[in-house]
Amino acid sequence: MDYKQRVRNAVHDRADRQMNDRTRMAVVDKEVASRTSPIVLRPSNDDDVPAMLDIYRHHIEHGVGNLGAFEPTPFDADDLKARRRNMLKHRLPHLVATIDGVVAGYASAVLFRKRPAYRFTVKHSIYVHPDRLHIGVGRALLPALIQACASAGFHQMIGYIDSANVASLRLHEACGFRQVGYLRAVALRFGEWTDTVMVQRAIGPEM
Ligand SMILES: CC(C)(COP(=O)(O)OP(=O)(O)OC[C@H]1O[C@@H](n2cnc3c(N)ncnc32)[C@H](O)[C@@H]1OP(=O)(O)O)[C@@H](O)C(=O)NCCC(=O)NCCS
Repeated sequence: MDYKQRVRNAVHDRADRQMNDRTRMAVVDKEVASRTSPIVLRPSNDDDVPAMLDIYRHHIEHGVGNLGAFEPTPFDADDLKARRRNMLKHRLPHLVATIDGVVAGYASAVLFRKRPAYRFTVKHSIYVHPDRLHIGVGRALLPALIQACASAGFHQMIGYIDSANVASLRLHEACGFRQVGYLRAVALRFGEWTDTVMVQRAIGPEM
């Protein structure tokens, strides 16, 4: 089954579970119509950490994109600050999107693997504020992250997406990622084994 078919199937199979999403999207649609403030993208700074942490914690607890029981210890502000500084030290981008000066989402990349041969390949994360979903924040952030990774000299980007995460699958497809792997029953979330889709896109010249 190809990537597009998988996205289509996921949409249908999860229709019941998406009822809540639709309710939220209806609310957000009104917001789209009334949102006049632009989405502003910039590198994150330490002052953004509490807002980023709130977004992250929300998705850990509620979202299909969460890490659930795999997060070994609670993630706190100092951890996030340290991670962010470490990424910057290695020229790895860490970006926020803001609306009216308030953090609406963030995106970052880390090395795909630590061994030196993999030094030009990154894997990334993206999280949008639960009240700002589906208004284009992801569509603004991910291309900016791709650009920042390319500018920093990286060559390939890899993402791991829960197979039920329709929003993330669509976002990545729209941003030029293609499915390169399908990992069955690799995550245990809320007592259920879930599949992970591995996506990839080139961001530098092929050798
Ligand atoms: C995945 C995520 C980053 C998308 O960000 P977003 O700002 O809501 O997405 P956008 O509004 O920019 O829309 C991007 C695409 O996703 C689609 N999309 C967004 N929300 C969707 C939803 N609830 N259902 C179906 N598709 C959705 C949009 O249709 C859009 O595609 P289009 O431009 O072709 O129409 C966001 O949902 C999120 O933070 N989710 C929780 C954390 C997470 O799962 N992170 C990714 C882990 S791999």
